[in-house]
Amino acid sequence: MVETLKKSRLITSAASCCVILCFVCLCLCNAAEEDSCSTPCTNITVLAPAGPPGPKGAMGPRGLRGRWGIHQQADRSKSRPGPAGEKGARGARGKKGDPGAAGSPGVKGQKGEPGSAGAKGERGQPGMPCTEGSNCNTVSDTVPGASFVAFSATLRVRILNAPENTIVTFDIVHTNVGNAYNKTTGKFAPQVSGYYMLTYTGMTTSVVGSAYWSRLKKNGEEIVSLYDRSNGDHISSCNSAILQLQPGDEVWVELDGRSSMWSDPGGYVSFSGFLIHPD
Ligand SMILES: *[C@@H]1O[C@H](CO)[C@@H](O)[C@H](O)[C@H]1NC(C)=O
Ligand SMILES: *[C@@H]1O[C@H](CO)[C@@H](O)[C@H](O)[C@H]1NC(C)=O
Repeated sequence: MVETLKKSRLITSAASCCVILCFVCLCLCNAAEEDSCSTPCTNITVLAPAGPPGPKGAMGPRGLRGRWGIHQQADRSKSRPGPAGEKGARGARGKKGDPGAAGSPGVKGQKGEPGSAGAKGERGQPGMPCTEGSNCNTVSDTVPGASFVAFSATLRVRILNAPENTIVTFDIVHTNVGNAYNKTTGKFAPQVSGYYMLTYTGMTTSVVGSAYWSRLKKNGEEIVSLYDRSNGDHISSCNSAILQLQPGDEVWVELDGRSSMWSDPGGYVSFSGFLIHPD
């Protein structure tokens, strides 16, 4: 019994010495020496993982009763709505929408105003001097409103062994006043009626026996022709005609079947015409 009490005192003494000082403490005090705690305590930090949370504590005692407050009736008649709240933060930007369906074509607009007049043209070339006895009047002097018409075109490449009735398309156009010559069709079709000077040429290849037959045609009618046959060198000829033409008339140069005609960009073969006098 006495032994138990003594042990109890010692334990209490050791606990007051070490527990306050030590986080985790092993007190090495000699239990036999009463009131002696000279042996230093050693801090031993146990790096163990935290244990599970303890059980929920018991409900605390009921609090004291508060004082009676003064009950105040709210004056509803004087109440006002509070101030407007602050504006909320801007929402996130929406996703891009799908492209819309193609619209139907719009209604055709009204016809625009006519454009302003173009700039004044360049001054014309000086006229040819008059020789005594000839008609010195210009085209516009004799026939009001008449236009000058003139064209000249050459053949860029040779034509070998042409099919029957091949229209020669002189495709290098040097002059085309009045736009009456069409290099795609090879036809001259002036809009001004009158007398026209028309001339054309032909040239053989240098192959012995190579020949060409060509003719100037007006609306399919043969007017003048050329024929040349090579003796081993090129042979060149020309022919011409003065024709009365009206709007709708067409003049062209045509090759007979098996004709071979030489030309190159140098312009060995040509077709030209001009208005001599309107009628
Ligand atoms: C034991 O550890 C505590 C906390 O780190 C510290 O305050 C105290 O001084 C230490 N005691 C000894 C004896 O090292
Ligand atoms: C030439 O004739 C072709 C075929 O007929 C035609 O398409 C073209 O418009 C004409 N060119 C000119 C400048 O008249």
